[in-house]
Amino acid sequence: MALPQVFLDELKQRCDIENVVAGYLPLKRQGRTCKGLCPFHSEKTASMVVYPESQSFYCFGCGAGGDVISFVMRIENLGYIEALKLLAGRVGLDFPEDEREDPSLRVKPMIYEINRAAARFYHDCLMGEGGEAGREYFLSRGLSRKTIVHYGLGYAPPGWDKLRDFLHSKGFSDGQLIQAAVAAQGKNGGCYDVFRNRVIFPIIDLRKNIIGFGGRVLDDSKPKYLNTPDTPVFKKSRNLFSLNFAKGSADGRLILAEGYMDVIAVNQAGFPNVAATLGTALTSEQCRLIATYAKEVIIAYDSDGAGRTATSRAVGLLAEVGVKTRILDMKGAKDPDEFIKKFGAERFKLLLDGAGNVTEYQLSVLKAKYDLDEPDQRGSYLTEASRCLAAVESPIERDIYAGQLAAETGVGKEAILQSVSANRKRQVRQEKKKEWSAIQSGRGPALAPGGSAPRSTAAAIAEEGIIACLLSKPEEAARLEGVISQKDFITDEGREIFGIIIERLQQNTSVSLSDLAGALTEKQMGFAARGLARQQGIPPAADPLGDYVRRLQGARLKAQVQDAAQSDDAAAALAEELRRRKQR
Ligand code: CTP
Ligand code: MN
Repeated sequence: MALPQVFLDELKQRCDIENVVAGYLPLKRQGRTCKGLCPFHSEKTASMVVYPESQSFYCFGCGAGGDVISFVMRIENLGYIEALKLLAGRVGLDFPEDEREDPSLRVKPMIYEINRAAARFYHDCLMGEGGEAGREYFLSRGLSRKTIVHYGLGYAPPGWDKLRDFLHSKGFSDGQLIQAAVAAQGKNGGCYDVFRNRVIFPIIDLRKNIIGFGGRVLDDSKPKYLNTPDTPVFKKSRNLFSLNFAKGSADGRLILAEGYMDVIAVNQAGFPNVAATLGTALTSEQCRLIATYAKEVIIAYDSDGAGRTATSRAVGLLAEVGVKTRILDMKGAKDPDEFIKKFGAERFKLLLDGAGNVTEYQLSVLKAKYDLDEPDQRGSYLTEASRCLAAVESPIERDIYAGQLAAETGVGKEAILQSVSANRKRQVRQEKKKEWSAIQSGRGPALAPGGSAPRSTAAAIAEEGIIACLLSKPEEAARLEGVISQKDFITDEGREIFGIIIERLQQNTSVSLSDLAGALTEKQMGFAARGLARQQGIPPAADPLGDYVRRLQGARLKAQVQDAAQSDDAAAALAEELRRRKQR
């Protein structure tokens, strides 16, 4: 990396991790560390810890971890250099001019350029000769020409090479098309178009860059929708379709739908403050994005069972980022697109205005399920309803709903409130237990985030320890020469990070956690931060590095014994070796 070390050091000095993280979420000081709700996964009790001493953070719930720069990269969805620039700007530090070295700075603009050209191509195909099929499709779905142009919709013609040849003529190479994921690698070299004979929905981010595409078939074939896979500029879990249009018109309120066509139909009906996730369940990252400008979300998911489940999940996730929710109680149509087509924009407006909060929605779903004239069913209704009221935070609201239930069922309000309160206590207990067991089981510290379980937890812990020791005392690396090398590491992360550290030390470059932020992946960063986190949780040993090395060697031998189980001789030899070590 061509950035001068003085700049990086100065930046680290000025950007204390505790301050920076506290700018995104409330942190609670606990002795030498701070705790907060992890912004990278959904949780109700804080499991993210910030360590001011090592200037690192680690989430014991999801395994996210790293230094201040990787925190900003992740929470702002930025590349390394971009994150440095942002931080430098915040603390009034000039960014060094020469930045041509960083390849990610060139890749992203290149992909934006390809996407822009591709979107143009798809749109021209739709509007021009040969685009009849696409045009007919959109017309059949009730879209006006104005809407088609507004959204820049397009049509990918049939055939394997139309877009490819077009982009070749603009000077882009196969490799670049594959990086942008508008084309995929062919079996015999070369590449072919990803979207074929589909109508195209360009996905545009808040900076007006085209970051990816959704493509729908024109008939009933499968898969119905195809989306751009994750690329350097596109992460499905971090973006929303049409947020670029919704943003300017939101007045603090956002309609959240399930699909592309719902969003476009709602927008066309005169409600531009609408967005949708991109074929995945709502994530906490998307919620944070929403929270930056919407105070209230009206959830307009499909009216089927899956939609209801997704709705209650979304309510919880949005509550965690402080966004209020109301829910569209859509009867007589499966989704907003269909509703507007059947009943018109005015009725949809009434629906929006009348959307109740979660509790009202849940109670109305329950009420429709039971016949309140039947005493038995009244009982079941009350049981379920008081479970649902137990989740209401405000005692005043609980009181009001209990009053309504009492009037509906003829059961005393006090009795209902008592049952609600019993349910509340139980729910809090269960919640705590669930989160705790998630941490205790594999999802906690012993496993790599999102990855497969390491073959040996003991080895993983030892490797994390070695890495942490090297990060805090790089001078100790000399002791490892001839003792362990890269190939002794069992986990991929351990091996890779060790290699990077040793290489940097050989070149006399520094290896603190933040010096590695540009060189390590998110997962590797989490691995290193976990080692540092663990180190701070235990009393200091006399020779931690030596301990960890011995533990790794032991764990390795054990794994080899298991591997060699088929071959008896080798197993016996290894077992003997293991015994000798134990006696030492
Ligand atoms: N989706 C997807 N891949 C699929 C199916 C769906 O990515 N194979 C995503 C798309 O973003 C889609 C959304 O999930 O817009 C909702 O899917 P669905 O309810 O099946 O489709 P509709 O929006 O009703 O689609 P349409 O009205 O076009 O039939
Ligand atoms: Mn639909």
